[in-house]
Amino acid sequence: MAIAALERLLLTLVLLAAAVGRHAASGDGSFYGAKCTQASTWSPANNTKFRANVLALLGRLPSAAAPSGFASLRSGSAAFARGICFGDQPPTQSCLDCLSAVAKKLTDEDGCDASQRGAAWSDGCFVHFADTNATSPYEETSRYRIQVVQTGAAAASSKNSAAFDATLVALAERLAPRAANASRLLLATSTTEGVPLASGGGSGTTTVRAMAQCMRDRSPADCARCVQRSARELGKCCWDVTGGVTAYVLGYNGHLRLDMEVFQSRLIGLK
Ligand SMILES: *[C@@H]1O[C@H](CO)[C@@H](O)[C@H](O)[C@H]1NC(C)=O
Ligand SMILES: *[C@@H]1O[C@H](CO)[C@@H](O)[C@H](O)[C@H]1NC(C)=O
Ligand SMILES: *[C@@H]1O[C@H](CO)[C@@H](O)[C@H](O)[C@H]1NC(C)=O
Repeated sequence: MAIAALERLLLTLVLLAAAVGRHAASGDGSFYGAKCTQASTWSPANNTKFRANVLALLGRLPSAAAPSGFASLRSGSAAFARGICFGDQPPTQSCLDCLSAVAKKLTDEDGCDASQRGAAWSDGCFVHFADTNATSPYEETSRYRIQVVQTGAAAASSKNSAAFDATLVALAERLAPRAANASRLLLATSTTEGVPLASGGGSGTTTVRAMAQCMRDRSPADCARCVQRSARELGKCCWDVTGGVTAYVLGYNGHLRLDMEVFQSRLIGLK
């Protein structure tokens, strides 16, 4: 019953969250989400031992991951948990806090408590558990899209132009081979100035700061594929990620984050 309620809540693959008036710095809790999945053959009847293993792994995960920002744990051959804090050098304490809070969402009674696989995330970290170490087909293709309006930015009133979206896709795609080749961290960033907005009657340009980061236990090829797929999400309906917005595309093997600098002339209409 709890699961059904959770599933209803989280049914939409595309989550658009707007937290107006909050700064979109990593880990400030401006959004949170979770998704539980299981094969149709998964039976709650033989869940007890698996669940105990998952709970133990999720309990260990925050302190295992916090010092380096990532950990991949296993219990025997049947339970796996991974956690990552977003960014290059996330402070150990905030990484620990983020992973603890997000892992708790998975272990809570109304979390993914009868599920075969599950993930939960916030703006600072991503936690995943499963009964295998391989990526499921659902996880391979699913992406959670979130946009956060930065402090001082007006919520934009119209969707991005196709040209702006195409630019975002291209600059995110360029991060794929770089992240894949970045040994250990599997992370790449870029800053692109002078990106034409050409949206909603707005003219002028914005600066886009982009980051692609993969789960560190994945191969370079998996990382590149994950970033490319996430990049393509930026070209799909219905973003509104012009000036003053941070866009996240979260996947099971990595994520993209794009910060669009506040575009001054958009502020004219601010109340
Ligand atoms: C559940 O238990 C049955 C019978 O012991 C077993 O055949 C099946 O593989 C188990 N399912 C899972 C997903 O572990
Ligand atoms: C999961 O598989 C990857 C290779 O795909 C490996 O690097 C990693 O260590 C594995 N994780 C665990 C916990 O076994
Ligand atoms: C690593 O970088 C090289 C050279 O830029 C590129 O050809 C290759 O595709 C990259 N690796 C991956 C997995 O993307």
